[in-house]
Amino acid sequence: MKQFKTEQEKFWAGEFGNEYASRNKDQEIVAANIALFSKILSKAPQVNSVIEFGSNIGLNLRAIKQLLPNVELSAIEINDLAVKQLKAMGDIKVYHDSILEFTTDAKRDLAFIKGVLIHLNPEVLQSVYEKIYQSSNRYVCVVEYYNPTPVELPYRGHEGKLFKRDFAGELMDKYPDLKLIDYGFCYYRDPVFLQDDLTWFLMEKRG
Ligand SMILES: C[S@@+](CC[C@H](N)C(=O)[O-])C[C@H]1O[C@@H](n2cnc3c(N)ncnc32)[C@H](O)[C@@H]1O
Repeated sequence: MKQFKTEQEKFWAGEFGNEYASRNKDQEIVAANIALFSKILSKAPQVNSVIEFGSNIGLNLRAIKQLLPNVELSAIEINDLAVKQLKAMGDIKVYHDSILEFTTDAKRDLAFIKGVLIHLNPEVLQSVYEKIYQSSNRYVCVVEYYNPTPVELPYRGHEGKLFKRDFAGELMDKYPDLKLIDYGFCYYRDPVFLQDDLTWFLMEKRG
């Protein structure tokens, strides 16, 4: 396997990441993502290009394509199996790399990350915030587990693999031109569209 800087990257590039990609492929996940992104995108006019950081097999991007059929999609993903499936979709520019190594080559109207910041080594967050911010020419969206202060929790029996904090708040503190447009919560007991307990934050660069 490729050399990685953090144990969290090895974890997602390896067996755990392979099993995750095989396990999470349900059409119902895409349906729930359509429900979520219809709320987010209704607040973000004129999105013609999107980049997702850590997109796994593209279940968010598929949902976005349903909502914005002409959008240009890009994905950054570390796991080989997930990348194969992203490439098979045919209409996504795929960066097969760790987010930690990714260098922004073009700005998109929307740069987003969902369920990935929580799994990164907290020491790399500042550099990842910079990459997300630099990849957007207008909107930034963060969809993660929220906690007002940083905490670590066990993740499926693993230590050092799940962290919660106010990721969006930290981004807005770091980049004061990022203004909060809207935010919301997905509840795991939602009777129709199941998601984890995710909190989403849509921000816009307004200088
Ligand atoms: C919990 S999954 C979330 C997938 C997707 N964003 C979603 O909402 O369904 C985390 C994803 O991030 C990817 N990932 C984790 N660390 C990464 C890194 N350093 N660089 C690129 N991808 C990473 C994993 O391989 C996995 O596909």
